[in-house]
Amino acid sequence: MTDQRDVVTLVGSLRRGSYNAAIARSLPALAPEGMRIAALGSVGEFPLYNADIQDAGFPSAATAMGEAIAKADGVIIITPEYNYSIPGALKNAIDWLSRLPSQPFAGKPVALQSASTGLLGGARAQYHLRQSLVFLDAFVLNKPEVMVGQVATKVDATSGELKDQATRDFIAGQLRAFSAFIGKHGTPASP
Ligand SMILES: Cc1cc2nc3c(=O)[nH]c(=O)nc-3n(C[C@H](O)[C@H](O)[C@H](O)COP(=O)(O)O)c2cc1C
Repeated sequence: MTDQRDVVTLVGSLRRGSYNAAIARSLPALAPEGMRIAALGSVGEFPLYNADIQDAGFPSAATAMGEAIAKADGVIIITPEYNYSIPGALKNAIDWLSRLPSQPFAGKPVALQSASTGLLGGARAQYHLRQSLVFLDAFVLNKPEVMVGQVATKVDATSGELKDQATRDFIAGQLRAFSAFIGKHGTPASP
């Protein structure tokens, strides 16, 4: 019997037709046996980080997402690259989550995926994201790295589905590796 892995996804784009969101939607069907994948809320629900707002009480988007991450066995972040780094909305959400009294990324297995219309598939953004996750003490899967270049040719424009089979197979391989990684490095998620 395979252990159950409950994994949540966080998307760095707010765009309705986001390619990264399309990849996130493809994940449940690509997950290995025993891995359940559910979407977290939108990073667009967070106000801009301001310690004065925090002093008056954390926004509900931050506490709700923090609780969902704490309960999960792992997190997959799927993000575009903006100007060689991560989108401000994603960084803002991470900044809020990082200030929660029980910081939910500490010791949490995390896998990264990025997609871009350019050739490099958001590689540079992933390395900036890894840097923040070091400070948050997350356990980030090293390889395989999922960086989907020229993503506009790989997502069906009408259905919004990730249709490129080689990309689907590669992502499925990362999810299998992530399942094994959670088995080795994950601590039991909080109830
Ligand atoms: C503000 C901005 C900055 C961008 N910077 C980069 C970049 O540095 N590297 C890159 O590969 N693509 C860059 N792009 C193009 C994105 O890869 C493309 O817009 C992609 O579709 C965004 O992801 P999404 O479809 O999930 O929203 C940028 C796009 C925007 C709007």
